[in-house]
Amino acid sequence: MPKHMLRLGVNIDHVATLRQARGVDYPSPMAAAQLCEKAGAQSITIHLREDRRHIQDGDLFELRRGLKVPLNLEMANCHEIVEIALKAQPDEVCLVPEKRRELTTEGGLDVAGHQPAIKATAGRLAAAGIRVSLFIDPDVRQIRAAAAVGAPVIELHTGTYCNARGQRRSAELNKLIQGAILANQIGLQVNAGHGINLDNLDGIMRVPHLDTLNIGHSIVARAVLIGMQAAVREMSRAMRRYHPDGVSD
Ligand code: PXP
Repeated sequence: MPKHMLRLGVNIDHVATLRQARGVDYPSPMAAAQLCEKAGAQSITIHLREDRRHIQDGDLFELRRGLKVPLNLEMANCHEIVEIALKAQPDEVCLVPEKRRELTTEGGLDVAGHQPAIKATAGRLAAAGIRVSLFIDPDVRQIRAAAAVGAPVIELHTGTYCNARGQRRSAELNKLIQGAILANQIGLQVNAGHGINLDNLDGIMRVPHLDTLNIGHSIVARAVLIGMQAAVREMSRAMRRYHPDGVSD
């Protein structure tokens, strides 16, 4: 892969959302991750939430065992999940804020406001050989705080840009650009994620120094549409075995 090529990390949380909606054992996040790998994803991301609304602990350990590409675990800085991460040993952990009632991660982590706690967790994870990333808004204070707590990687929160319309949109893009420039200058790896889709990708790609884009919801949503014809054909074909006597061959 050329050095400048932007990497794609696929977040497969919403494959698990579909499974949890029925309380069954399909679709399997592991099977989805393997298809992502086959299609060229450079890493797989999952978010093990405290409320376990999609990804479950068993998914994390199964992916840890079965993936060929690096596994990035998003998680809150809370004792229970930190202990699980230390046991599972993902390649990378991205610390994110978490609120119980949010639909998805809202806003970046306030690293500047919680430096001692984040530094302690980042240190423990790093000591276990896990690369630590912090999901933050493109804000000078937060970027400097990320460097101060010793994280080698930040993931810039692109959600505000992706949701903004009109003049606010270019202002938000500018924040991402300036944030990436600053982060690169102070030696941080810059990833980005949240809300990225095929329509806003061009804007995101104007941000310099990017290493990895973590994209989830839009890819899973698109997969449902792209895969619909094949799934319907498969069922139709299976139903052709029907015989009016009730005996299938
Ligand atoms: N990066 C982080 C830190 C996230 O919390 C999420 C959502 O789980 C994503 C990327 C992916 O966002 P989306 O599903 O909107 O592509």
